[in-house]
Amino acid sequence: MNASIGFDKRLYREDIRGSIAYAKALGKRGILDQDEYRAVVEGLLAIEQEIKTGAFNFRVEDEDIHMSIERRLFEKIGKAAYKLHTGRSRNEQIVLDERMYLIEECSSIDKKILLLLKILVERAKEHLSTIVPIYTHLRKAQPTSLAHLFLAYYHALSRDRDRMRDFQKRLRVLPLGSAAAVGSSIGIDRNVLLQELPFDALSQNSIDAVATRDFIVEFEFICVLIGVTLSRMAEDIILYSSEEFGFIDLPDDLTTTSSLLPQKKNPDSLELIRGKSARVIGHLVWIVTLMKGTPYTYNRDFQEDKEGLFDTVDTAGQCIAVMTEVIKGLQVNLEHVEEALQKSRGALFATDIAEYLVTKGVPFRDAHRTVGEIVRFALEGERDLKDLTLAQYKSFDQAFEKDVYKLFDYIRSVNRHDVIGGTALKRVAGEIKRAENKLEKEIRARNPR
Ligand code: ARG
Repeated sequence: MNASIGFDKRLYREDIRGSIAYAKALGKRGILDQDEYRAVVEGLLAIEQEIKTGAFNFRVEDEDIHMSIERRLFEKIGKAAYKLHTGRSRNEQIVLDERMYLIEECSSIDKKILLLLKILVERAKEHLSTIVPIYTHLRKAQPTSLAHLFLAYYHALSRDRDRMRDFQKRLRVLPLGSAAAVGSSIGIDRNVLLQELPFDALSQNSIDAVATRDFIVEFEFICVLIGVTLSRMAEDIILYSSEEFGFIDLPDDLTTTSSLLPQKKNPDSLELIRGKSARVIGHLVWIVTLMKGTPYTYNRDFQEDKEGLFDTVDTAGQCIAVMTEVIKGLQVNLEHVEEALQKSRGALFATDIAEYLVTKGVPFRDAHRTVGEIVRFALEGERDLKDLTLAQYKSFDQAFEKDVYKLFDYIRSVNRHDVIGGTALKRVAGEIKRAENKLEKEIRARNPR
């Protein structure tokens, strides 16, 4: 029960980097002499290789990654290894490792989201003038550009990237030097540590430094939001690719056939994205529940913070990558989309018609009621709104004139929604341009030549 080595061995690189930095500070303080310092660093680097190549012998008796590495360092270099822990505690070592680990993983998740965003914008560009019905209450509402929907996903995921970046200023705070709870007593220079490690600031309260796991909560929360967005995107695509909708065809390699029903092409990858968001949500509940009753400062309960964290990292990364493949590979079935628009018999223009009446001086509430009656009349007679005669329109309201027939055009309808953030094609095209420019800049910043 005590042992966490089964899972915390994943932190070996961070642990070793932290120890090398600490050895330097001990050297400057005169606690390790030149030779000892060199032996410690070489020993640690050799251990890193052993773990990397699988040659390292992990033992449960060592309990955790910190003790495993210290034990092995002693085997390799003898007594100097035992000086490394002077003034240092595992309580700070573990949060140091976790923070460093997350700095890396945030960057990797960010890179994955960036790629997904790029694909979303590409697909948006391709489908700028593909008009689809958009749904509210899962009932057809109004026509929109499909690009507008792709960009809706883009915006949600961009905000998650922003959150991840904002989180860095709280994550990149170095706890080393806090010791067990009240700070190191041996006079090491924490600024030396800060220079050696990938952090932006030093923690300012040693009790807080070893007691908090809020950075894990925050990371998992951001992953929950990513997971929920991906889950909703998955749900959209599952629905739109069903036989009933038929708007989207999924590539074969992202679907699975049923073991019993030979005709089936199940959207398993999307169902799993939707399903896996549940475990990420579970991990968030786990970590806050773990923290809530613990007295300051460190408690061994905190050892239970890691498996959920690692699984969150793995699950988020996997789901983003699979969703990227889905968005890249999905095909829009224009014929079925067109059919769905036809089948609505012009009902998607109802709001346009009401607003048309408003331009003729009819108060909106009256127009709303009138158009409701017109739609009922048309659909009961299995007629399209565009096929009603002007006399029939006039029988509902004298304000109708023959320009009403100009309304029955999907592109024109979309273009009427010409506000910032609306679905008018020129607005959406502008949005695509802005997104492209932003992404290009950010991709370049990530891969400087
Ligand atoms: N394995 C422990 C953890 O994950 C490391 C810290 C243990 N500290 C201690 N004083 N027992 O939290």
